[in-house]
Amino acid sequence: MVARRSSRAPILPYRRAELSTPGHDLKMLRKAAGTSADMVLMDLEDGCAPSQKVPARGVVVEAAKTLDWGGKVLAFRPNGLRTPYFFDDLTEVVGQAGEFLDVIVLPKVEGPEDVRYVDRLLEHLEWKHDLDPGRLRLEVLIETAQGVLNAGAIARSSPRLVALLFGIYDYAGEVGATVGSDTFTDFTFAKQSALAAARAAGLLALDGITARFKDLELTRTESESSRRMGFDGKWAIHPSQVDVIQRVFTPSQEELDRAVRRVTAYRHADREGRGAIVVGEEMVDEATLRTEMRRVALGRRLGLLSPET
Ligand code: COA
Ligand code: MG
Repeated sequence: MVARRSSRAPILPYRRAELSTPGHDLKMLRKAAGTSADMVLMDLEDGCAPSQKVPARGVVVEAAKTLDWGGKVLAFRPNGLRTPYFFDDLTEVVGQAGEFLDVIVLPKVEGPEDVRYVDRLLEHLEWKHDLDPGRLRLEVLIETAQGVLNAGAIARSSPRLVALLFGIYDYAGEVGATVGSDTFTDFTFAKQSALAAARAAGLLALDGITARFKDLELTRTESESSRRMGFDGKWAIHPSQVDVIQRVFTPSQEELDRAVRRVTAYRHADREGRGAIVVGEEMVDEATLRTEMRRVALGRRLGLLSPET
């Protein structure tokens, strides 16, 4: 058995790829632990065989306690709040493996009251099982029509929240959409709702899956579109997608160099009493630098830039 993790270990302040792995399959969970994903999500919901819903809880507990997860954020996804499984999923898995878990991913969240209910349950479970108060963090899926409409209130509903995740297939199923080749046109409103809600509350935002997982070129182009839209990362459903996604959401050295150059030029101009400046063919001011400043901050967190840069 691996050493017990400190219950105060800080969880990563970024998420590029989150890998979803069926909770009933220990072999796949072992494989997931060996990937480079920032977070692995052991799934009791839609990725878990319906016939295995109850025994899968024990598999998730065993995996959490015995596998070496490296520096990854470790999460599990219980079944939805409106299913007969939810309560036992939460109490059994947290009760038996709470000190090994970082995040609980809530599916099909409809409104802030769903999150507040789980927040209170976790408060009790943390008391009962002697876990640090607030140690268990939440990421929630925005994947219903209500969820999209309530995204702003959901994002502000609990201090445990770390990220909002957009779930494309459930959302498509609910509104009657087909997931086709351009999800960035067809689902703009829903994606942007999740993204703006997350940002307004200071949370991370992750885009949904590319179900045609064998097509790594598609995974890459969809990741690039998500990143361009503003997302911090994306879900993976297969280990082969993880590296592709991680790479897209990691700022390249070229991007970091360019950002540092432009930010430095702007600061220098400011010291000389100038505001907007021209770098190359482009006007650069405070607003045009904001995304680059975010990338520089991420580059620092990832150790790609020295803290003084
Ligand atoms: N996590 C960890 N390991 C995985 C994995 C995952 N999500 N998906 C596949 N693997 C493993 C397989 O077990 C296999 O391992 P092996 O080489 O040791 O035998 C290897 O990766 C290659 O898998 P492959 O044969 O290409 O795929 P598959 O046919 O076994 O599985 C899926 C395809 C889609 C069924 C599987 O990837 C899966 O269940 N993904 C997750 C689905 C999910 O979580 N859905 C809910 C969230 S939207
Ligand atoms: Mg879903």
